Amino acid sequence: MDLGFRGDVVEFYQRYRRGYPDEAVDAVVAEFGLGGEDVVVDLGCGTGQLTVPFARRVRAAVGVDPEPDMLAAARRAASADNVSWVVGADTDVPALGLALGTVGAVTIGQALHWMDHERLFRAVHSMVRSGGGVAVFTNGTPLWLQDTGWSRALRAFMENYLGTRLTLTCGADEHTQQRYADALSAHFTVRRHLFEYDDHLHVEHIVGGVLSALPVDKLPADRSAFAHALNDVLAPHAPFVERVDVRILTGRRSG
Ligand SMILES: C[S@@+](CC[C@H](N)C(=O)[O-])C[C@H]1O[C@@H](n2cnc3c(N)ncnc32)[C@H](O)[C@@H]1O
Repeated sequence: MDLGFRGDVVEFYQRYRRGYPDEAVDAVVAEFGLGGEDVVVDLGCGTGQLTVPFARRVRAAVGVDPEPDMLAAARRAASADNVSWVVGADTDVPALGLALGTVGAVTIGQALHWMDHERLFRAVHSMVRSGGGVAVFTNGTPLWLQDTGWSRALRAFMENYLGTRLTLTCGADEHTQQRYADALSAHFTVRRHLFEYDDHLHVEHIVGGVLSALPVDKLPADRSAFAHALNDVLAPHAPFVERVDVRILTGRRSG
């Protein structure tokens, strides 16, 4: 499936998509006992929001993504030199060539909803070492699905722009989290982690965040007019406070 993470979308993604709080990454490091001997595979790595912080904590990280433009941007920006960036998808995991039972963790940030998660969890189980596992991250509720006036105004604007209703939560809703937890529990010991904080946004962040989430063929031709129109819609709802809930589902291999 072509998700359109290419061209200018990549720049918006890299610039406006926030990373994950250190405590969230550290919780996974603690749960799997990750350290200087470990390799972490970050699947659906995008521009490296999870890959790089994990790389700083382990021997090496492998960022895997089907979109070459995302990987190229990640490679250019990466401050860690113990990362390799590999073109691939969830279905390529068994062919990555890593010895079975050796990987410290497989991480997936905001990307599992595009994967065959049951098949993936099965494949990952044989890849990870005992005590290691899989960590599924979400990085908050989409900007246009939150319970605030500015978010409702944004949703109405975007639904009008795209001509469709916006309901997909990218895996952050409770029903989907439970589905993932149930599938994980077939192979792993499952835990849930939640980290919450408030972020104070500027209109620029909201515009950039929205543009980073559009497929490249849906980007507005006139970005400046789009930004002005959105600003007019949002302005009455300032200030723009976002409650960010970072959810992590961990599955730990015990045997
Ligand atoms: C929303 S971005 C997430 C990027 C980053 N992990 C983060 O947490 O911000 C989703 C990424 O998943 C990738 N992706 C989509 N389908 C995939 C698949 N089947 N296997 C691996 N990655 C996939 C996309 O190319 C995109 O870069």
